[in-house]
Amino acid sequence: MPAVQVKPGIYWIGVNDRTTDLFEGMWPITSEGVSYNAYVIDDEKKVLVDMAKDLKSDALLDQIAEVFDPAELDYIVVNHMEPDHTGVTRTMHRIAPKATFLCTKRAVPMLAGYYHLTDQVQVVEDGETLDLGAHQLQFHITPMVHWPETMVTYETTQKVLFSCDAFGGYGALQGGIFDDQCDDQAFYERESLRYYANIVALFPKPVIKAIEKLAGVPIDVIAPSHGLVWRKNPARIIELYQKWANYALEGPDVGVTLLYGTMYGNTEQMVEAVAAGVTRAGVPLDIFDVRHIHTSYILPSVYTRSGVLVGAPTYEGELFPSMAHALDMIARKRIANRKLAYFGSYGWSGGARREITEWAEKLKWDLAEAWEFQGGASSADLARGEALGYSFAQGLKGE
Ligand SMILES: Cc1cc2nc3c(=O)[nH]c(=O)nc-3n(C[C@H](O)[C@H](O)[C@H](O)COP(=O)(O)O)c2cc1C
Ligand SMILES: [Fe+2]
Ligand SMILES: [Fe+2]
Repeated sequence: MPAVQVKPGIYWIGVNDRTTDLFEGMWPITSEGVSYNAYVIDDEKKVLVDMAKDLKSDALLDQIAEVFDPAELDYIVVNHMEPDHTGVTRTMHRIAPKATFLCTKRAVPMLAGYYHLTDQVQVVEDGETLDLGAHQLQFHITPMVHWPETMVTYETTQKVLFSCDAFGGYGALQGGIFDDQCDDQAFYERESLRYYANIVALFPKPVIKAIEKLAGVPIDVIAPSHGLVWRKNPARIIELYQKWANYALEGPDVGVTLLYGTMYGNTEQMVEAVAAGVTRAGVPLDIFDVRHIHTSYILPSVYTRSGVLVGAPTYEGELFPSMAHALDMIARKRIANRKLAYFGSYGWSGGARREITEWAEKLKWDLAEAWEFQGGASSADLARGEALGYSFAQGLKGE
């Protein structure tokens, strides 16, 4: 893709990644892709804001060369050290030997650790400004959005915020880079929530703090390092991030995520009955088969909804393993204060029910009901399952 002007003298460059299957080695992006956006500023001082993963680095250099010779770079701003933005650091250092890397104090040992880069590194302080000629940069330290060394960079004359991971999302760019060029904004919003729930959600307070810190800063363009550049409606993505961060502080929406797994279909038959009960109560419901659906897609639902129904059989005296895996990932993401109910089929001894009580304690969730039934459900069992779904959902409404 060619370099694209964002504002006079400010250009988007970047790498569209449709090759990587698992972002961070964990989160599927095979069908969605992701972009690593970077930006150049062409002024008396030449600047590169953020870099990219070590992928298609030749194309990245060509994009810079459309604006100016990369060897002329004076500064490379390192907002965040994660290698999806810094993978080409050594290449850039070789090609632009006079460029100074600007970063927070906490990034200094990381630049040394990851890339053995110790010279040409300059620390910036919170609020510090740097005049480039016609443009001016201002640095705002935003720890834990996404790592402890993270900052965002604001261009004061054109009011462009280079926010790196903040306000980013999965989803490769599809021809256009701007929100107003995109006819499927819902895709990017959905993929931004998935990205948020997978990657950022563990740190809601730092996200709120960063948004509060930037509240007084007039913003014309949000230029993140993943996904769309928001110039038509930058407030939209800020609002969404604020709403998502608030879920962790103020609690989720009324709604149910039903997670299930099954070996022979007995538990699955009950899923239909329980789901009918939830729907009769008029409560929104998402259903995921944990055997096939990656937790990346499950986390946004669990993160935004107040109730989790777990349907899974007993396997070797314990909970069906793919369900344990899903719950483990949810526990690692520390999604707190949910209401939980369990149902599942067993053959002779049961055991999943006991393990679910342990998960409820570990997750610090309120276990409303845990019900094991033997083998295939009778019609009385199915009626009980429907009633379980109904009363669980009603309980979420506070009725
Ligand atoms: C490999 C395997 C291990 C199992 N281990 C147990 C067990 O330890 N205790 C038990 O009560 N049932 C056990 N079962 C029986 C299942 O829990 C039972 O068949 C149940 O009805 C399966 O529900 P599903 O049709 O939803 O998969 C096991 C079944 C399999 C295939
Ligand atoms: Fe990151
Ligand atoms: Fe990133």
